[in-house]
Amino acid sequence: MKAVITTTARYVPERIMTNFDLEKMVKTSDEWIRTRTGIAERHVVEKGQTSSFMATKVAKILLHKSKTSPEDIDLIIIATVTPDMLFPATAALVQDNIGAHKAWGFDLSGACTGFLYALETGRLLVESGKYNKAIVIGVDTMSSILDYTDRNTCVLFGDGAGGVLLESSKKENGVMDSILSLDGSGGKYLHMPAGGSLLPASHDTVDKKLHYLKQEGKTVFKFAVKKMADVCLEILERNGLTCEKIKLFIPHQANKRIIDAAAQRCGFTEKQVLININKYGNTTAATIPIGLDEAVEDGVIQNGDLILLSAFGAGFSWGSMLLRWG
Ligand SMILES: CC(C)(COP(=O)(O)OP(=O)(O)OC[C@H]1O[C@@H](n2cnc3c(N)ncnc32)[C@H](O)[C@@H]1OP(=O)(O)O)[C@@H](O)C(=O)NCCC(=O)NCCS
Repeated sequence: MKAVITTTARYVPERIMTNFDLEKMVKTSDEWIRTRTGIAERHVVEKGQTSSFMATKVAKILLHKSKTSPEDIDLIIIATVTPDMLFPATAALVQDNIGAHKAWGFDLSGACTGFLYALETGRLLVESGKYNKAIVIGVDTMSSILDYTDRNTCVLFGDGAGGVLLESSKKENGVMDSILSLDGSGGKYLHMPAGGSLLPASHDTVDKKLHYLKQEGKTVFKFAVKKMADVCLEILERNGLTCEKIKLFIPHQANKRIIDAAAQRCGFTEKQVLININKYGNTTAATIPIGLDEAVEDGVIQNGDLILLSAFGAGFSWGSMLLRWG
């Protein structure tokens, strides 16, 4: 039994925050952000819109496009570091919103690698033969944990959601291979210090701005380029493939310079690499499924094509997945 992605979907909030908007909030410039990151604008939620709101939009599009009844969904996995609340899980909120009464589900915290972790989990559960249809979504409301007075971080991220419907199939397509990794010694370089059991919310944690994302950008940058390129080369080699055989490389969108450096180290041509960071910024767990849905919509991916996904993020976490489409 294989697990095949039969449908893709994405949702980004309507509101757009441009680099020029950010110029009015912190000491930065459109020129700096574009040249250092490749980002021109990002989407951000309105007050009251949440990760479950965006994930529900994606789940409903998946059901609509695939003409699937919510009652037929067995499993909902949501990758996010910005759930609506610590519990119940975003998956529970989405399950109720779409009326998937027979589904169970959970949230998975894998930061920017979250969608790959979730896709691996979902596909193994479907491949076990026990579950037929799983919704796997990557969603993040990064604007809820950004300090819009810190130019080092607030310009980099955006809000969004993307997801897939995984279905059991006797075809030989689907996830062909995966390599997923974690190195917790890198945790301190990209994290949100407070709000968990270590530092529960208090006046002190709020005063010290500990409920915002903190990162050492340069350390993350170096790690990202090396790990993303290494893991892609490893998965290609162990499948007896070279870059030319890959129709589309969909990397996590954190910084265009990271993508360019990793793609160059692997030997991908510009045409093989999906880049949409200019429109969305880094939407954390959502970048890869958003990119996948755009590629499907634009007709870039055809049945039988080999697709390479790759991500890195907080943890440090990283990984790569090889798919055969259709
Ligand atoms: C954050 C990042 C864009 C910074 O780019 P960089 O080329 O490393 O820039 P530096 O950190 O060397 O900063 C250079 C200068 O620009 C300044 N700067 C930082 N953000 C700025 C901004 N938005 N606008 C203007 N100047 C800015 C810095 O303060 C620094 O000034 P200084 O030299 O006076 O101290 C880059 O390190 C990066 O993308 N890192 C990875 C982040 C990431 O991917 N995170 C998510 C992982 S999933």
